[in-house]
Amino acid sequence: MARMGTGNMGRKNFLSWHGQKPQLIVTEPDLIKEILNNRDGVYVKMKVVGYGKKLLGDGLVTTEGRKWVKQRKLANHVFHAESLKGMVPAMITAVEMMLERWKHHDQGKEIQVFQEFRLLTSDVISRTAFGTTNHEADESKRISIEDMIDECKTFYFAGHETTTSLLTWTCLLLAIHTDWQDKATREVIELLGQKNPTPDDINFISRLKTMNMIINESLRLYPPVLSIVRTVSREVRLGKLNLQANIELIISTIAIHHDPEIWGEDVHIFKPERFSEGVAKATNNNTVAFLPFGLGPRTCVGLNFAMTEAKIALAMILQRYHFTLSPTYVHSPTKRLTSCPQHGLQIMLHAL
Ligand code: HEM
Repeated sequence: MARMGTGNMGRKNFLSWHGQKPQLIVTEPDLIKEILNNRDGVYVKMKVVGYGKKLLGDGLVTTEGRKWVKQRKLANHVFHAESLKGMVPAMITAVEMMLERWKHHDQGKEIQVFQEFRLLTSDVISRTAFGTTNHEADESKRISIEDMIDECKTFYFAGHETTTSLLTWTCLLLAIHTDWQDKATREVIELLGQKNPTPDDINFISRLKTMNMIINESLRLYPPVLSIVRTVSREVRLGKLNLQANIELIISTIAIHHDPEIWGEDVHIFKPERFSEGVAKATNNNTVAFLPFGLGPRTCVGLNFAMTEAKIALAMILQRYHFTLSPTYVHSPTKRLTSCPQHGLQIMLHAL
């Protein structure tokens, strides 16, 4: 049995450099908790400058202090359960449009789903979050136009690439592990039959237990966000370490998710059953063992949005198709902001 939630995972924190910048790679759970739960502005988000700022804006992902508090409140409101329910029809429509394209795809010819999921997630985000943020902002005039543009860029980036990554890796794992694909299909058909989900089915989403396990295992093996980074804003003591200002702190999600001391010797194997009794049980209440969406006040605000979107998309695909990996697929995970397969994901669709 794995030693879970104990000690420092048998690892040492260590110092490295990125160009001239000192980086501390933090591996001790207690220190990771302290960094991510910090609320007094000691460990701050990376400053985005130049091209990055043009691309991402200075939105919720990067802001600090009072501006962050204000934006976070607004975003929590946008993504809370009731308004999420209102976004489900748009998600379903976007998936239907993707599946309509798939209908015209030649049977027996591979399909490049990485590209399909990029289109899907960008369609979903334009149909949902933008509309809502704009509407909320118009109504209350709570944020400026410039801030609103930054928020739109942020949601677009934060919501689109990450969910594409999740859908793609999950699809790869299901294409290989067809026993789990069959289990997931059976669950979907039992709950929904052949009909499309409806907004009232938001409850059905929480009842997709097998799918939830599969998605969690996919997020563990292939976390879209590979590491979480903070900068030390002023001299501070962290555990036994004295840190000077401007050191970068790196928390490697992928290293934690692949640590046999936490997850056991079968750490590299796809075993959704680890999550059969939930995340807390799978990690033995070690909150830093599973960090796909981060931890603490800066936890992903789009978590439920992403999970809802992914479950709707996968459920609607599984209602119609069985799929297998194309022989042309080459496994080469790459980091382009988020993790993705370098050459895309080619699968073979078989209509049910
Ligand atoms: C599978 C999909 C997703 C993954 C794996 C993911 C992952 C993450 C992670 C790890 C963080 C924390 C970063 C840190 O602490 O430095 C984060 C923050 C954030 N995510 Fe996501 N995310 C996903 C989907 C989304 C979606 C769909 C949206 C919005 C539409 C979104 C919006 C945000 C925002 C705004 C933040 C910053 C929150 C703050 O700092 O207060 N994410 N995400």
